[in-house]
Amino acid sequence: MPAPHSPGPLFREPASAGGLTAAAGSTRYVYLIAAVAALGGLLFGFDTAIINGALVFLKKDFHLNDGQTELAASSILFGAVAGAAAAGWLTDRYGRRRLLFGAALLFTLSSLAAAVPRTLTEFVLARLVGGLAIGVASLLAPLYIAEVAPAPIRGKLVTLNQLAIVTGILLAYVTSYYLADLGLAAWRWMFASAALPSALFMFALLLVPESPRWLLGQGREAEALRTLTRLNGPVAAAAEATEIHAALAAERDEATSLFQPRLRRPLRIAVVLAVLQQVTGINTILYYGSIIFTEHSGMSGASAIGANALIGGINFAGTVVALFVIDKVGRKPLLLLASGGMALALGALVVALQLHAPGPWLLGLIMLYVACFAVGLGPGVWVVITEIFPTAVRGRAASVATVALWVACTVISFTFLSLVKAAGLSGAFGLYAVLSVLTFVFVWRGVPETKGRTLEEIERTWQGAGYALKSSS
Ligand code: GLC
Repeated sequence: MPAPHSPGPLFREPASAGGLTAAAGSTRYVYLIAAVAALGGLLFGFDTAIINGALVFLKKDFHLNDGQTELAASSILFGAVAGAAAAGWLTDRYGRRRLLFGAALLFTLSSLAAAVPRTLTEFVLARLVGGLAIGVASLLAPLYIAEVAPAPIRGKLVTLNQLAIVTGILLAYVTSYYLADLGLAAWRWMFASAALPSALFMFALLLVPESPRWLLGQGREAEALRTLTRLNGPVAAAAEATEIHAALAAERDEATSLFQPRLRRPLRIAVVLAVLQQVTGINTILYYGSIIFTEHSGMSGASAIGANALIGGINFAGTVVALFVIDKVGRKPLLLLASGGMALALGALVVALQLHAPGPWLLGLIMLYVACFAVGLGPGVWVVITEIFPTAVRGRAASVATVALWVACTVISFTFLSLVKAAGLSGAFGLYAVLSVLTFVFVWRGVPETKGRTLEEIERTWQGAGYALKSSS
């Protein structure tokens, strides 16, 4: 069903704006669009991580017991599952930009609402709304970027969103560190501090166009062509529009149900990769780092904060490396390097824990593990999820994988502390090491290389053997 027409961006310029050649203008324009969308990633990272610093104060202020503390911490994850599920169905109908705008609005409302509650229930409700925003943004920021990006730099631009997520996590650590001096009410300021960037995200979205691929799917030819021209220059735009049309026509002949046979393989790849990205344990380090370092490697509280900062820094640096190489070496080699490296680092960590190795050794191995994640599994999974589905079902199909990712994230965060109690830190990391080995095998056997191909070329892969991608199984 066609969606009602949405207003165009407020500031639309012709392709030759500012006297730039189309090609020179277009690169800047693509980066501007990706940067605006990546604000969604920044808020996703910030809002998931800010709870770490805030929880200590909230617990005291509201006199929370363990169960209530867990509820306060996890309500955002339930919201994220629901947000990612709803966004998939809504975006194929209402577009990418409108849904991102909705997410920005929810981010703004929830950061204000989470700063003023008088009861735990009010706080949980505010965080649920924040979770909805995270779920929507986690799906739509990379998906929208993938749809506007020229094929040769698509991996890089989607990785920019992952860099923004990691930056958001770092900013949350820094913000809570500096606001901690404000006393018992510090947590209120920690949440409120996200309101400004959220509002900025809302206004910045007015500057960017709707995804041309989605527009063509809705028959909004002129608008789509205008954006494609600004992105790729007039000649390439016409060729791309023709290619997108052909792909959409082929899609129209097939059912647009998610349960059609040709979607089975991409759905399997995306869902399994999403789950593996989480069950190999990255967020246990990012969410529980302080506990791991103080309780298991004999560090003081201050050193643990320093260790967290180092880990945040290495996560950032690894993602920058990915940004520069993902379109050159491809997704698959990076995913293999990451999962193999994570397995080795975790294996060595298990041995080091058994041998009661000193703190710096443990920290070094954990940093190696995070670095491996950052160059491959972190950005690579989001890139693959948003580029392997046909345009007509991309929102819904990518949302299935994103929901799986958030459910896996919830399960891992909920089970980590009990797992450590039952099997020790080495038991937990041993399990994540085995799952990293499984990830390596799955990527090696089942994930096709998509580097440098247009979304339409990738789409044809699932239609017949004649179009099979190189190195697919
Ligand atoms: C990826 C994961 C997310 C994680 C982040 C850390 O975006 O999806 O769960 O927190 O990487 O870098």
